[in-house]
Amino acid sequence: MTTTKKTASKKPGDAPAKKTPQPLSSVRGMRDILPADQPYWRMAFEAAQKICDAYSFDRIETPVLEETSLFVRGVGKQTDIVEKEMYSFETSGGDKVTMRPENTAAICRSYIQHGMLNQPQPVKLWYWSSMFRHERPQSGRYREFWQFGAEMLGDEDAVVDAQLALVSWKYLQSLGIDSVVRINSIGTPESRLNYRNALVAYFRPKRSRMSDEDKKRLLKNPLRLLDSKDPLIAEMKMEAPQIVDWLDEPSKNHFMQVLEYLDEVGVPYQLDPFLVRGLDYYTRTVFELFETNDDQSQNQNALGGGGRYDGLMELLGGKETPAAGFSMGIDRVVSLLKSREDITPPSEQTEVFVAQLGESGRKRALALFEELRAAGIKASESFSKSSIKTQMDNANRLGAKWTLIIGQKEVLDGTVIIRDMDAGTQEIIDAQKMIQELKKKMIQKSAEAAN
Ligand code: HAM
Repeated sequence: MTTTKKTASKKPGDAPAKKTPQPLSSVRGMRDILPADQPYWRMAFEAAQKICDAYSFDRIETPVLEETSLFVRGVGKQTDIVEKEMYSFETSGGDKVTMRPENTAAICRSYIQHGMLNQPQPVKLWYWSSMFRHERPQSGRYREFWQFGAEMLGDEDAVVDAQLALVSWKYLQSLGIDSVVRINSIGTPESRLNYRNALVAYFRPKRSRMSDEDKKRLLKNPLRLLDSKDPLIAEMKMEAPQIVDWLDEPSKNHFMQVLEYLDEVGVPYQLDPFLVRGLDYYTRTVFELFETNDDQSQNQNALGGGGRYDGLMELLGGKETPAAGFSMGIDRVVSLLKSREDITPPSEQTEVFVAQLGESGRKRALALFEELRAAGIKASESFSKSSIKTQMDNANRLGAKWTLIIGQKEVLDGTVIIRDMDAGTQEIIDAQKMIQELKKKMIQKSAEAAN
């Protein structure tokens, strides 16, 4: 018999042919943090939480959206961030808002808004939040990225600057990352003005060899030239005047004190006379952290950065309030952790797998699983599967040390089969004593592993 394939002829009034929708990807420069990477993220987060608890910082989270003017005023009109990197838009209600490109300005806004000036100073706050900058994506640079940051608000003492550098360095240390703090002082806005003039006088005769971008910087914000990625500028700046020579006496003393405190607590640092940072709010101390093993080239990525910002609170409409802080780039920290063979995140390994057979076995297993969780035992299951082979495969894949097996017979007898997955041996135990037995076996196993 032959069959003829009918081709549907389209009649008037038929619905248009269905187009298969194209699969979508995440927005350029933004990415998913998938389950496989989560153990590293968790490790980085828990280390942040631990160090902040140890140094008495309180957690704060602020909204992703802030009024655009907060960052224009706070970060500075002539910074790369405000000039070209902000995700800003007008809401349907006509509000001009920005997805935070950084969090220090928002923390200051919150400090002013909630009258934190009336609390004992310094107010010590930490956060773990994602930031948004429309930068050119490249290795270690994303358009949505995560920062762990800590701020100490309401204190001008140099010991605060040193403690912040210490905490950021210790954070990396606690994760197994050796780092060095590159540090500089950029003085007060007044001393910076004199330096700015000296810098312009130095670079102006070299102007014809500069890119258009750098010419613009020379005109608008010459300190930014010191951040230029252009190798020609890097070479030019070797002979450029250094800001330390233009510091006012109190800033010089403040800087010396910061360095003395760092010496006292053994934080490794390098003086970097051209470190100015890309945000306009800094006064006096500025610092960045780099992995020690990293080559010292200009292109390496800072793992974190921070400094003092004594004038920011006033710029945002608050009372004069000295403050300092730092933020760590967690995407970069995690990528470093992943690249290191000697660093493994603590495993969340399943200790016990609960397998079941038949409907009554499954019901009993559900309850046993809850008992295990309540006793703090890390347990897994695949209750939707009925094949014992599939369940045992899952137990192996998850690295369970024991599997509990409950079928109809065990339900009737009030027992549980306990299988030692390494030894391949099984025994039947009283269901009432399951937790007790398991805990005994766990202690035995860890004692054997220790010997
Ligand atoms: P920042 O230097 O702009 O400072 O950022 C701090 C860290 O965030 C950088 O050292 C880097 O590790 C990470 N980071 C920055 N941009 C990106 C990106 N596009 N992709 C991945 N990671 C990135 C601040 O944000 C200041 N709020 C720090 C501060 C706190 N100063 C005082 N208090």
